[in-house]
Amino acid sequence: MITFDKTTKTYDGGVTAVKGVDFTVEKGEIVVLLGPSGCGKTTLLRMVNRLESISDGKIMIDGEDSMSLDSIELRRKIGYVIQSNGLFPNMTIEENVMIVPDLLGWSKKDKKERFKKLMNMISMDSEKFGKRYPHELSGGQQQRIGVIRALAADPPVMLMDEPFGALDPIIREKIQDEFLQIQKEVKKTILFVSHDIDEAIRMADKIVLLRGGELMQYDTPSEMLVRPKSEFVREFFGKDRAIKSLSLHTIRELQDIIGLAEFDEGITDTITINVNHDLRNTLSMLLNQEADQVIVVDDEGNKLGAITIDIVQKYLHFEIKAKPTLVEKG
Ligand SMILES: Nc1ncnc2c1ncn2[C@@H]1O[C@H](COP(=O)(O)OP(=O)(O)O)[C@@H](O)[C@H]1O
Ligand SMILES: [Mg+2]
Repeated sequence: MITFDKTTKTYDGGVTAVKGVDFTVEKGEIVVLLGPSGCGKTTLLRMVNRLESISDGKIMIDGEDSMSLDSIELRRKIGYVIQSNGLFPNMTIEENVMIVPDLLGWSKKDKKERFKKLMNMISMDSEKFGKRYPHELSGGQQQRIGVIRALAADPPVMLMDEPFGALDPIIREKIQDEFLQIQKEVKKTILFVSHDIDEAIRMADKIVLLRGGELMQYDTPSEMLVRPKSEFVREFFGKDRAIKSLSLHTIRELQDIIGLAEFDEGITDTITINVNHDLRNTLSMLLNQEADQVIVVDDEGNKLGAITIDIVQKYLHFEIKAKPTLVEKG
């Protein structure tokens, strides 16, 4: 758990980058710091691992004042991933990943095992890549290595500053998904910086929306989209915020609330879609198909019903207007 208590940062020269920010990141949650460039996201993050000093207020990590931790404890407790992956060019992949375990004095055997396990998590062959150098890897691979390096000593807290920001959109989405899968297993307490609304909605259990160093709203993505607390928040997410909110819900949730359409047994070559698909993807699939309806199937391929644009629209109205007890992401 990380608690920010009236945390403030004024740089030498007088810029107050973070102004009296209060919020708590619960254990095992991903909180995304979101906002335009210059709003204080990186400063806020770097105060947690003391790369920046705190001017006023404090930050508590698992109940301990961050200022009281020594450098070894900081390394053990906090993993850090940055956009330009920060890999050392003259060290092999294995040496790069094992930097912190090395500093903490792990045995050779423990390091070897850990490296293998971490490479497994990102589906990269430890034998094949261990002896290579960063420049021999693709951008996406380097960024994955940056992520597992931060996880190497199994710290409870992860700080991630636009970790996937330099990747092209398709690879970025893939790595986001892969990381969410890893997080299901490792359940780290994560502060994740992004200026990308879609990424924030996708990754966050909760979002901290910042403007000029001030916290504008702290909420789940769906609350923020459906119930913005101010005009600034409403404007920030834009007109298509209703459509964006669809990415937080699956066909199964829609099925539970308003049900699917009957499907026409007579049609043979139909397109199918898995019931666990999110509704934003479903909608774009429907819009891209010639067909009026797509058959919804479960993991075993059993046909559950059909989905149409009409039904998705109905759900959208329902969510925005009635706001029932929607199931949270996760
Ligand atoms: N080392 C620094 N010295 C002085 N001002 C800084 C420094 N780093 C950042 N700032 C200023 O603090 C504000 C917040 O910056 P930053 O935390 O990097 O924002 P973000 O990550 O949201 O883009 C900006 O106005 C920036 O110019
Ligand atoms: Mg930044």
